[in-house]
Amino acid sequence: MIQYLEQNAKLVDSYLEEKLTWEKAPSILVEAIKYGTLGGGKKVRSSLLFATGNAFGIERKELLPLAGTLEMVHSFSLIHDDLPCMDNDDFRRGKPSLHKAFGEALAVLAGDALLVEGISLTIRDANFLSHFGSEKILQSIQILLEALGVEGMVGGQVLDIEGEGKKVSQEQILEIYRLKTACLIRAAILCGAILGNASSQEQERLDKFGWLIGECFQLKDDILDLTGESEQLGKTIGKDLLQDKATLIKVKGLDSAQAILKEKFTQAKSLLPDEDRYQLLLGLAKFIVERER
Ligand code: IPE
Ligand code: IPE
Ligand code: MG
Ligand code: MG
Ligand code: MG
Repeated sequence: MIQYLEQNAKLVDSYLEEKLTWEKAPSILVEAIKYGTLGGGKKVRSSLLFATGNAFGIERKELLPLAGTLEMVHSFSLIHDDLPCMDNDDFRRGKPSLHKAFGEALAVLAGDALLVEGISLTIRDANFLSHFGSEKILQSIQILLEALGVEGMVGGQVLDIEGEGKKVSQEQILEIYRLKTACLIRAAILCGAILGNASSQEQERLDKFGWLIGECFQLKDDILDLTGESEQLGKTIGKDLLQDKATLIKVKGLDSAQAILKEKFTQAKSLLPDEDRYQLLLGLAKFIVERER
């Protein structure tokens, strides 16, 4: 699975390397955008798109524009997440966070640019549009925008920040996980299913699977913040405790959090039929809960 992720990372990075060029853009902005997007990063979201697409006979290269979009908007979220007014993190992907390397103003602006240009990457690609049909692309972009918006990542990030230092329930925490993280992960999977002409029954199944795996992703991220190795993760550990973040570990303890992770993974697994075509997707789900980085 590591090999699959690494292959995908190479594929998406070289695609983006080529696409992240503009004729009239300030060169410092392009430099910052590339710094925040290329190299490092596990490419989990684009890999989930590829793996779902694969289950329905779509090749990775056919999905590159949307894969690039996913990684650009995800990178935007990380750049803003690290800002001093948010999580105040100095390290990301094994190097200084964008605001440390380029200053806060450029971190805000490179994030803005990645969000807008990220979405635009998919919708201005005429080949992609004609290959899958504009109706399916529009549907995918709508799902993606919902995942990023007020009832998605941005809303979730607000709840995350507002939840610092407060007494929160398990259900409130799971809601934060779903909004800030699972939304985008679920969108990657659902878009793969839509573009792959999955039946509505299959879409429903993958939709539920996506939410669960998304929750697992954030829960594992929180566990790693406590138990992981800073060098392997490429970011500072122990920050959640320090900032008194609303995590399941805070309210349930590490052992229970690990048990909930296992339970959610088992639930997710049971949603996928035991067919060869789902093996990549299952492998990625397994990676998400077992990873050390
Ligand atoms: C980190 O995401 C932010 C969360 C949603 C928890 P990733 O762990 O996917 O970050 P990269 O892209 O691999 O750096
Ligand atoms: C980030 O969650 C979720 C986003 C939407 C970016 P975290 O704040 O826990 O992510 P890390 O640990 O900084 O990567
Ligand atoms: Mg955060
Ligand atoms: Mg953070
Ligand atoms: Mg974290």
